[in-house]
Amino acid sequence: MLLKGNKPQYNNELIDYQTGIYMADLNPFVFQMLKKDAIGGIDKIVESSGKRKHDLLKMFEDDIPKELFFTEPTTSRKAFEAELLKLSQTYIETFPDIEAELLISDIDEFSQAELYVERLWINYQRPTEFLPLHLHTGLLSFVVWTQVPYSFDDQLGMQAYSASKDRVGKFEFVFSNSLGAIRTLDLPVDKSFEGRICVFPAKMYHQVYPFYQSDDFRITVSGNIRVRKK
Ligand SMILES: [Fe+2]
Repeated sequence: MLLKGNKPQYNNELIDYQTGIYMADLNPFVFQMLKKDAIGGIDKIVESSGKRKHDLLKMFEDDIPKELFFTEPTTSRKAFEAELLKLSQTYIETFPDIEAELLISDIDEFSQAELYVERLWINYQRPTEFLPLHLHTGLLSFVVWTQVPYSFDDQLGMQAYSASKDRVGKFEFVFSNSLGAIRTLDLPVDKSFEGRICVFPAKMYHQVYPFYQSDDFRITVSGNIRVRKK
């Protein structure tokens, strides 16, 4: 075990043993702090609206000051990071195979290993914007749905002639099965996801589809958790 203590219990846990995807409610008190930080950053993001592109990953890669598009939690940071480490402990206990990933690092003994939050950022997503297929670095990654300005019903009927019409607004994982066939797992993200956190292997590919029915921001908080020697 990387962290000592009793395994915390989280509300509305959802565990997919095939993919290693874990979802639960974030501590409501921490979530409210995080949401306040996220809403507080909107004005700065609105100022940069003329420089936005539909492809958020492209914006991230281009040589544009990151603070125009992404902000970081401030007052909620300490409490949020503590929650993330507790959740990561639960994750590792839930999926023991993830410990094998630690052997790839320079750490010989699990008892010498320590988890830490490498970085985290707040994503502000406008209607029509999307995040194409990508993966992260580190051991685990996470996403917290902070503000989702539509319900699932709102999205039905939009993009009627698009091949991706049944994926509007969704968060999708892409992976291969034991035969090498490509498989997907879609999370039907809408307002009901606010306050939920998903923890997943950092190297699992994922993408985020655009939404169309609201002019408001979809706000998520993402980041990576790594391991280091104590
Ligand atoms: Fe991502």
